[in-house]
Amino acid sequence: MQILASKLTNTTLLLLISGILAACSAPEENETAQSSADPTFNTALGVQDIMSLVLEPASDILWDSGGWVLDASGYEELYPTTDEGWAYVRAQAATVVESGNMLALPGRAEDNDAWMIYSKGLSEAGILAMEAAATQNEEDFFQAGAQLYSVCTACHQAYNPDINNRFDDEAD
Ligand code: HEC
Repeated sequence: MQILASKLTNTTLLLLISGILAACSAPEENETAQSSADPTFNTALGVQDIMSLVLEPASDILWDSGGWVLDASGYEELYPTTDEGWAYVRAQAATVVESGNMLALPGRAEDNDAWMIYSKGLSEAGILAMEAAATQNEEDFFQAGAQLYSVCTACHQAYNPDINNRFDDEAD
């Protein structure tokens, strides 16, 4: 019993000390996180890779899962019809949420101004899509998709207007 008690105190003391150490080193870590040469982020993938390999595939699934299309056989509803289907689009929306953070990382962000606002907007639209998917609310899901689209085009307009022309080409 005595041994157990002293063991406990030792552990508590150790936890306390490591807690204090962590508290002391925290501000320093934050500082490095904000410097643009932070080696702790791997930004080997550039913005173009994030767009074409991460963000666009996830967004396309969201857009392909919202609303209706008219084809030869009539109107087809695109919304998921099963719990698994909604869970799947919710996961794609989560990728969109985190893409906002990926773009905001030092080494990727083009400035600390509008770029950050658009990146945040991406995450916000993604959160809305996740919530709509969780509640299987078709109207909210559609709105989230529209909001997402407007963030994409606004950022492209500001930083690389040619991309929007390409989007238009695809729609034709
Ligand atoms: C924070 C700004 C920003 C946001 C938000 C953004 N993009 Fe981009 N996007 C860019 C920039 C900058 C480029 C050009 C990258 C390059 O070519 O170096 C680009 C390029 C692209 C490309 C072309 C990639 C290639 O292979 O050339 C696609 C596709 C794309 N974006 C899709 C999207 C979609 C879809 C969204 C929204 C879901 C989106 N982007 C949101 C900044 C953004």
